[in-house]
Amino acid sequence: MKLFLDSANLTEIRDAAAMGLIDGVTTNPSLVAKEGRPFAQLIADICRIVDGPISAEVTAVDAEGIVREGRELVKIHHNVVVKVPLIPEGLKAVRQLSREGIKTNVTLCFSSTQALLAAKAGASFISPFVGRLDDISEQGMDVIKQIVTIYRNYGFSTQVLVASVRHPLHVVEGAMLGAHVATMPYAVLMQLAKHPLTDIGLKKFLADWEKLPKTV
Ligand code: G3P
Repeated sequence: MKLFLDSANLTEIRDAAAMGLIDGVTTNPSLVAKEGRPFAQLIADICRIVDGPISAEVTAVDAEGIVREGRELVKIHHNVVVKVPLIPEGLKAVRQLSREGIKTNVTLCFSSTQALLAAKAGASFISPFVGRLDDISEQGMDVIKQIVTIYRNYGFSTQVLVASVRHPLHVVEGAMLGAHVATMPYAVLMQLAKHPLTDIGLKKFLADWEKLPKTV
């Protein structure tokens, strides 16, 4: 399973990349807005840190505008993936961008029917938002299960990218279901490595080591 960082913060991205932990980065307008820097510059900086798919989201909501923005975004770096909202105009744009060989990540997906349409339109990635579904008392993971099954049944090459990840269980369940990618905030990525028994065990090993007679 590929792990992406869902962040536009260069400090977080650098740190996760230094540990060799991330295969790509996803951003969205809300994450970019937090950084207070020009969008294209920020995406270019991220591309310099991580050698993998970097999702940059369009803000147009009409097909022509989305295609225009997408063509500009991929000029920033060859790893840029154009993030497109799952609306009918977005699907038209995905069809056109995919004909031009431009990779897309279809975002704001909340159902398997939406994901089926995105795959048929030629999306490279589909981003179902599991956390936001859980927030409204729906099982986000059920949607992942349906999408993975449907894509397998019909041999779609669109990669399932578990998004809106809020905790490690979302990653575990996504991986068990065979999702291709999970994108997560920095804090969740760090939680994946954490186990209290590791910390307790290490503390004990080091304490025991200290009991050794010191050699001169
Ligand atoms: O980048 C899209 C997605 O991961 C957003 O997550 O936590 O705002 O629902 P969240």
